[in-house]
Amino acid sequence: MMKLASPKSKTPTGKKASRKRLLQGKHRQKVGRRQSRIKHSERKQARLENGERKNVLNRIIENRLIKEISYEQYRDKVRGVYDGPQGAILATCSMLSLHTPLGDRMFRERHFDLRGAKNILDVGSGAGQIVKHVLKYADTRADITCFDLSHEMLRRARNRLKDDRPRLVVADLASLPFGDNSFDTVTCGYVLEHLPDPRDGLAELARVMTPGAQMLLLTTEDNFSGAWTSRMWRCRTYNRAELRRTCTELGLRWDKELWFTKMHKVFRAGGICVRLVKE
Ligand SMILES: C[S@@+](CC[C@H](N)C(=O)[O-])C[C@H]1O[C@@H](n2cnc3c(N)ncnc32)[C@H](O)[C@@H]1O
Repeated sequence: MMKLASPKSKTPTGKKASRKRLLQGKHRQKVGRRQSRIKHSERKQARLENGERKNVLNRIIENRLIKEISYEQYRDKVRGVYDGPQGAILATCSMLSLHTPLGDRMFRERHFDLRGAKNILDVGSGAGQIVKHVLKYADTRADITCFDLSHEMLRRARNRLKDDRPRLVVADLASLPFGDNSFDTVTCGYVLEHLPDPRDGLAELARVMTPGAQMLLLTTEDNFSGAWTSRMWRCRTYNRAELRRTCTELGLRWDKELWFTKMHKVFRAGGICVRLVKE
């Protein structure tokens, strides 16, 4: 037969009961504190994922021009920057910052593999820094198209490359003069940061890419060195998680994050560098 516990044994009285209530109260406080700590860190994580910047200093350093004027006005300023003396030293800057030799290694070691690519588009070619690698590592029969906002930059690229194989076109990333599904490979180095809204450029690139096409995207990140880069080139920076979400929403799968070297990976340096695949 089942024994029923006496009510007396379940409800302690006097000192015992008040001690138990005290302990229960303390336990509730502890749980409450733990829950609020969890909520705080969840809120912090959500803020970071929503693209809110970590560091106030970076926000102060970062150039704000892109947010303050219309896109048309901003685009004219950018064209002026690259047409002028800053554009003239762009290739030298890429060499001194080691972007040129490290970029070469990325293609040479096939972290971004150009083998088999038939129609290649290089975005914002500048002085031809990336196209130089493309010419070196892509199949000799591959069709190569380069475009840039600045006619002057394309003229410099042509002089530097000493190769008339790439087709050079003056165009704006936000409205491309190419048909849908035209390219199986895209390289886009440090151009997206010149758009106030990345969607305008990424949607255009997704449109001109064939399904399954790959893109090498390099862009300035929202950290200390990115903030200084933004100051120098009057561009914006990107939050990695936010950019990843935008790419995914536009059907560009964030396939593989790339780093120039192991040291860059450890120190999270060198900006965002990723291989994207069009779904
Ligand atoms: C920092 S350079 C990048 C050069 C090269 N792609 C590289 O990776 O070193 C940026 C280039 O993007 C071009 N650019 C900026 N905004 C652009 C836009 N909306 N459409 C096309 N090109 C643009 C600039 O004229 C400049 O030549």
